[in-house]
Amino acid sequence: MSKGTFYITTPIYYPSDKLHIGHAYCTVATDAMARYKRLSGYEVMFLTGTDEHGQKIEDKAREAGVTPQQFVDKIVTGERGVLDLWKLMNISNDRFIRTTDSYHVTAIQRIFRKMYDNGDIYKGKYVGKYCKPCESFWTESQLKDGKCPECGREVADAEEEAYFFRLSKYADRVRDLLENTDFLEPRSRVNEMVNNFIKPGLEDLCVSRTSFTWGIPVDFDPGHVVYVWIDALSNYITALGYANDAYDDYDKFWPADVHFVGKEIVRFHSIIWPAMLMSMGLPLPKKVYGHGWLLLDGGKMSKSVGNVVDPYLLAERYGVDALRFFLLRTFPFGSDGNFSNEALISTINVDLANDLGNLVSRTTAMVNKYFGASLPAGCGTWAAPESFDTELKELAAGLRGRYEEQMEKFQFQNALEEVFRVIQRANKYIDENAPWALAKDMDKNGPRLAHVLYNLLETTRISGILLTPFMPESMEKLFAQIGADESVWTWDSAAVWGALPETASPRKGENLFPRIDMEKELAELQKLQAPPVPAIELEPQAEEYVDFDTFCKSDFRAVKVKDCTHVKKSEKLLCFTLDDGTGTDRQILSGIAKWYEPEQLIGKTLVAIVNLPPRKMMGLASNGMLISAVHREKGEEKLNLLMVDDAIPAGAKLC
Ligand code: MSP
Repeated sequence: MSKGTFYITTPIYYPSDKLHIGHAYCTVATDAMARYKRLSGYEVMFLTGTDEHGQKIEDKAREAGVTPQQFVDKIVTGERGVLDLWKLMNISNDRFIRTTDSYHVTAIQRIFRKMYDNGDIYKGKYVGKYCKPCESFWTESQLKDGKCPECGREVADAEEEAYFFRLSKYADRVRDLLENTDFLEPRSRVNEMVNNFIKPGLEDLCVSRTSFTWGIPVDFDPGHVVYVWIDALSNYITALGYANDAYDDYDKFWPADVHFVGKEIVRFHSIIWPAMLMSMGLPLPKKVYGHGWLLLDGGKMSKSVGNVVDPYLLAERYGVDALRFFLLRTFPFGSDGNFSNEALISTINVDLANDLGNLVSRTTAMVNKYFGASLPAGCGTWAAPESFDTELKELAAGLRGRYEEQMEKFQFQNALEEVFRVIQRANKYIDENAPWALAKDMDKNGPRLAHVLYNLLETTRISGILLTPFMPESMEKLFAQIGADESVWTWDSAAVWGALPETASPRKGENLFPRIDMEKELAELQKLQAPPVPAIELEPQAEEYVDFDTFCKSDFRAVKVKDCTHVKKSEKLLCFTLDDGTGTDRQILSGIAKWYEPEQLIGKTLVAIVNLPPRKMMGLASNGMLISAVHREKGEEKLNLLMVDDAIPAGAKLC
């Protein structure tokens, strides 16, 4: 019997670069939560996906020389792309949405029209600031030192005809939602939202753009594309079939039980998203939880900063479960956490190899050594329990309740702390009972020894069940080793001491979490994580000599760029007007438009060979050639104009 439904989401990811461990953090947390809810009897809908529109993607695709669709396809479905990563991380999502999916596109057009028809979207003129990397509009008052308040980068002036969403109309209702309900957690994020965004006055939001095309067209005004956040946020309902026919479980799962989101996008989820839903007359999600960031060297991990950690590398070396466990055991979900290789290895060594791994391997080895295939019947009870027997049993039998309390608050670290308190207690119990000493006189102590080992197996079983949402594969192996079949891996049996049959057959198996040599491994990781040196390909050096007199005939001069323009109808050519020191301007054409914008070059001092015979290109005369340095990187041609010290006067001869 299902306890009901549970709908949980992750943010949908920008496929602008490969995902890193910071992205995996939220998805692993969501996965652990979804698995926990399934285990405890809920019918779960776990949604993730990709947010594929916007100017950033359009720009990146252009740079890569492919269409935006080809660009996102490669990052989403290509080798080691988003889908591969979720497979690797054992993510159990029930649905995956791409905002380029046609059903979503249609649904967004309907949603936009609905908000327009009810008067909440109107046409106006947008004047403000835009941060391209964040795809965010800001008003002057929101800027921090004139820069994007989110990423600190430069913002650009933006002015265009645009549609606006009447966000201001919903300010009071959103404020009430934030301040007087548990809609947004952790609570500290509420003050941040109210003080930074609502109190200064919520302005209407610009929700369409005309300056680029990679987005969902507004169907009644196709020069406009829908603002990416309107498009992206709506995924949480379109993926259930809202305003489309691709799915039909909107009524079953909406409103969502929780949206897990990183702290920098709480603003969109706790202000804009509820206001959109209010405008559409739809129920609000029950909760938004803003988790912290995984930091590296104190800064947010991000591809543009170049401090990302590759989840593939770590999962391949330590196993996916160890990595999943580390992420949720080490950092409190609501706060930032500093990633380090030391912390990762130490968590694996201390919790997994030492505490859990040793408990399993010592217990199963002792059962096999002292009793063969299984413990004797009757070993589960002991007439005169010692205080430490009672303590261990009570601690283990009450674990599910304590764990559940933390999981319901999304406090993964605390839930795991509860489990490991029991595991540590069990290891201490081994020392208190000294089974190796009991085993010296099996006739006298055999029944007691069997009871001690049974208690250890039972504690391991209960802990294993509660660790399953975090380490699903390893826990299956653990159950096989302690001889527990599926009937005693269940949520119900996690609260029942004695569910494991006394005569179950444990067997010592492979080491679940091998210990890692910290020093050696750190050195190895440092080598592997060093940023790759770009593969530079150079032109082979000329083998033939050129005689000195011939070389001396080439007249190289310093020249100053007075003007530089694109040559009409040519994609390659720039036309330079140069001061070569003679008093008469020299015109040279150069095929370097791919690498330089004309404005970048005005005023620069370059090097030209001036005694080449004049040539005509696109009807214009070129008197000489500018000297550049060329090489290839990752197969792509790179060119840098030779620029010399501006102190060198125009016309100086280079020899
Ligand atoms: N596309 C938007 C989300 C739209 S949801 C309707 C987006 N995408 S993202 O790819 O940039 O980020 C996705 C999630 O990854 C965000 O919640 C973000 O906070 C999270 N993280 C990215 N780097 C992170 C860390 N270093 N640490 C923790 N989470 C991080 O935002």
